[in-house]
Amino acid sequence: MKANITATAKYLPDRVLTNFELEKIVDTDDEWIRARTGIEERRLVNDGEATSHMASHIGLKLLEKSGKSPDDIDVIIIATCTPDLIVVSTAALVQEKIGAQNAWGFDLMGACTGFIYALETGAKLVESNQYKCAMVIGVDTMSSIIDYTDRNTCILFGDGGGGVLLEPTTQNDGLLDAILQLDGSGSTYLNVPAGGSLRPTSEETVSNKQHYVYQDGKTVFKFAVKKMADVSAEILDKNGFSGEDVKLFIPHQANKRIIDAARKRCKLSEEQVYINIQKYGNTTAGTIPIALDEAVNEGRLEKGDLLLLAAFGGGFTWGSMLIRWGV
Ligand code: UT7
Repeated sequence: MKANITATAKYLPDRVLTNFELEKIVDTDDEWIRARTGIEERRLVNDGEATSHMASHIGLKLLEKSGKSPDDIDVIIIATCTPDLIVVSTAALVQEKIGAQNAWGFDLMGACTGFIYALETGAKLVESNQYKCAMVIGVDTMSSIIDYTDRNTCILFGDGGGGVLLEPTTQNDGLLDAILQLDGSGSTYLNVPAGGSLRPTSEETVSNKQHYVYQDGKTVFKFAVKKMADVSAEILDKNGFSGEDVKLFIPHQANKRIIDAARKRCKLSEEQVYINIQKYGNTTAGTIPIALDEAVNEGRLEKGDLLLLAAFGGGFTWGSMLIRWGV
């Protein structure tokens, strides 16, 4: 038995932050951002709106689209690195907001690879035959940890997320394989230095701006280009597929140049790759499920199509997944 994606949904806040608006805040320009990243604009939450609000919208949409009742959800997994609270999982807040009375759940922190990590986790729970329906959401409120005076990071990130329902299938479809990786030696290149148990919040950590994302962009870029391309090619090879077999490649949307490198490595055409980075920037755990929902809505996936996912992020984390589309 395998686990199959039976519904998709997304949520993007309606506030738009364009490159031109960023030009007025930091020393940058639209042309540089577009050329170096592919990003034109990103979305930001409104004041008071947090990760659980976006995740609950996604959860309710998944219920509406699938015709399921909240009681049908057995487990809720939220991939995020920007939970509402340090203690109390986002999953708990979502459980209450959507009224999923029979669900247990938890948050999973895999940074930009979080959604793929969560999908694999949810799939294994469904495949165990103990759980009939898993709600898996990838969502981040990056604006809550971004310094809008730091041009190295503020141009890259946005808020938003998406999710899926996973259910058992006995057909020849569903999640076929995953390769997931973790290398903690990358932790110094991309992180939020304070606010955890290592450096609890203090006046000093606040005045040193240690609650914001720190990124050594060049080093992360180098790793991301290699690792995302390698792991995308590896999963195809391992399963006896080539680029021609792939209907759609949905990569994590961090930088169009990283996506292009993975595409070329797998010998895929531009038409085989889903890119929406221009609209939303990098929403961390949100990018893949947002793109998946858009691709489904645009009719880019039909029953039997082979879907390739790949991501790279803080940790370092990276991975790929192959899915035989079943709905
Ligand atoms: O999703 C999680 C993983 N994260 C990623 O995958 C992000 C990986 N990194 C990247 O995408 C890229 O490294 C960036 C987009 C962050 C930076 O692009 P880059 O081509 O690596 O630029 P760079 O850091 O080498 O900087 C080139 C120049 C520098 O000026 P000098 O030293 O050549 O005079 C920077 O100071 O561009 C300058 N620069 C900027 N200029 C205008 C850096 N940021 C900006 C900016 N606007 N926002």
